[in-house]
Order: sequence, then C-alpha cells, then structure tokens
Amino acid sequence: MDILSKIEDVKAQIKSYKSQGKIIGFVPTMGNLHKGHLQLVSQAINTCDVVVSSIFVNPLQFDKQADLKAYPRTLEDDSNSLRDLGVKLIFTPTPEIMYPKGLDNQAVVEVLPLSNMLEGKLRPGHFRGVATVVNKLFNIIQPDYAFFGEKDFQQLAIIKQMVKDLSLDVIIKNVPIVRESDGLAMSSRNNYLTENERKIAPSLYQTMLWIKQQLLENNRTDYAKILEQANVKLEEKSFKRDELFLRDAKNLEEISQDTTHIVILMSAHLGKARLIDNMVISLS
Ligand code: PAJ
Repeated sequence: MDILSKIEDVKAQIKSYKSQGKIIGFVPTMGNLHKGHLQLVSQAINTCDVVVSSIFVNPLQFDKQADLKAYPRTLEDDSNSLRDLGVKLIFTPTPEIMYPKGLDNQAVVEVLPLSNMLEGKLRPGHFRGVATVVNKLFNIIQPDYAFFGEKDFQQLAIIKQMVKDLSLDVIIKNVPIVRESDGLAMSSRNNYLTENERKIAPSLYQTMLWIKQQLLENNRTDYAKILEQANVKLEEKSFKRDELFLRDAKNLEEISQDTTHIVILMSAHLGKARLIDNMVISLS
C-alpha cells in the first residue's frame, strides 16, 4: 500500500492503474476511522479492482477554527486499518498542497440550493468546502465509483447533485448508516461523550423510531407538533435541542402531496458533542 501526499505522485499512480484497465473505487475521509468508514471501504473493495482512500482534515469545510484544531489525527492507526482491508493507495495531502494560495484565493463549488439549506444554513460555507474538496479529489483520483455514507444525508445529496450538474464521470454509491448495537450511529464525535452521556446517546435513535411510529402507525401529519414532542423527549434525557426536521427525502424540500419518502434529519447536543443522525421512512 502506498501513502502519498503529493498530487503529481497520486496522478502518476492513478495513470498506471488506468493503463492496466483497473476499475478504481474511492473513499474520501477525514481520518480517525471507525467501523462506519470501514464499511464504505469494504463495499469499495467488493465492487472495484483498486481502492484509493484519502485522509484530509479539510480546513475549507470547518466554520470554527477550534474544531479544526481539535479534530483527531490518527494516521498510523488509520493506515493500518486501511491496509488490512486491502486499500492500495492513501492520499494524505496537507492544506498547503490542496490550497497553495490559501483558503480565500481559489475556485469553489456551490451546489444550490441544497448547500444553503438546513445544516448549510446553520454552518455557512460548510458544504461549499465539502463540495470543493470532493470535486478536487475526484479530479485527482478520477474514480469510477466513490462511496459516501448515508450518515451525512445532506452531504450525500449535495455530492450527487454536484456530479449530475457538473457532468462528472463518477458513480456515487451510498452506504447505510453503521450503528452500535444500541442504535447509536458510529461517529468520531462519540469519543467526546462521557460514560454517562454514552448511555444516554442512543435516545437519539429511539426518538427517530418514535417519530416513525407516529407517522406510520398513528398516521399523524401534524409534523410541527411531532417535532416539538420529539425535542421535549430529548430534553428530558438531558440533550440540548438543535435541529430537527422532517423533509422530503428526494430533495430535502418541505413534505408535499408527492412525497413518497420522508427523512428525519436530527442533531442534538449532548455534553461537548453535537450528534447528528437521520432516518428515511417509506410512506408506501
Ligand atoms: P468523514 O466525516 O471522515 O466521513 C467520511 C465518510 O464516512 C462520509 O461519507 C460519511 O458519511 C461516512 N460515515 C461516517 N460515519 C458513518 C457511519 N456511522 N455509517 C456509515 N457511513 C459513515 O464526511 C466527511 O468525512 C468529509 O466531509 C469528506 C466527504 C471526506 C470531505 O472532506
């Protein structure tokens, strides 16, 4: 397995894979890998001849400098996990390599209107940073397939729209959320939880199941009231409320007569952690 940080070196390696007719799978990450990330890698290994992963804590998508600084960097453990699964190449650029003229002096990718809705409204510039870096990574790695987790539902929708709108030659594969046995979605942010908070954290998943029950079994359509009740349930468990939406899963717009799948998009603060999760509910 190669670990390369220079764009020219990665491009040369990719050229060699392509000349051998290899199908290339790509899994972009920010490192500090857990079983959720590794599920993406396993799926890529099953689908493609050669799997490339990137580990880059992308400064362009962080709205708070403190979060960027505190983001865990665990390259040695990460590269061991990726090697064990059969990844052939890890791209580990520095911010200077990716953004040589600095963050404010370069082309960016805006995926409208998705980037500015919901989570994008709360974190201005975040999805511009994500779309820009993913576009750049696609141009360097030129994958046939790229793998993204449903854990970041809006991010996935934005990447899919970017690929369509900009006619990129890559097939996006989504991978279902990998959860702990008690329902908590795997995330690097779970490391911020104390022992007691970790016990409470699965309530996020339980609350989504409760919402699902209200929609499907109790046939409720008073969405605002359901959301308020769900937020109160979370507060009772000592979460601090954040964002909670019910949207059309197809386009993240408000639910309408045409909606066939509803997505619950939720985030809540528990101690130092901001946990995010989602669940898609089929109405048919
Ligand atoms: P990161 O948070 O490292 O996540 C990398 C990929 O792993 C994303 O596609 C994310 O959705 C997926 N993932 C994380 N936890 C998961 C889980 N529990 N189940 C399934 N998939 C999971 O997302 C990013 O990095 C960045 O924004 C990136 C796309 C790399 C651009 O910088």
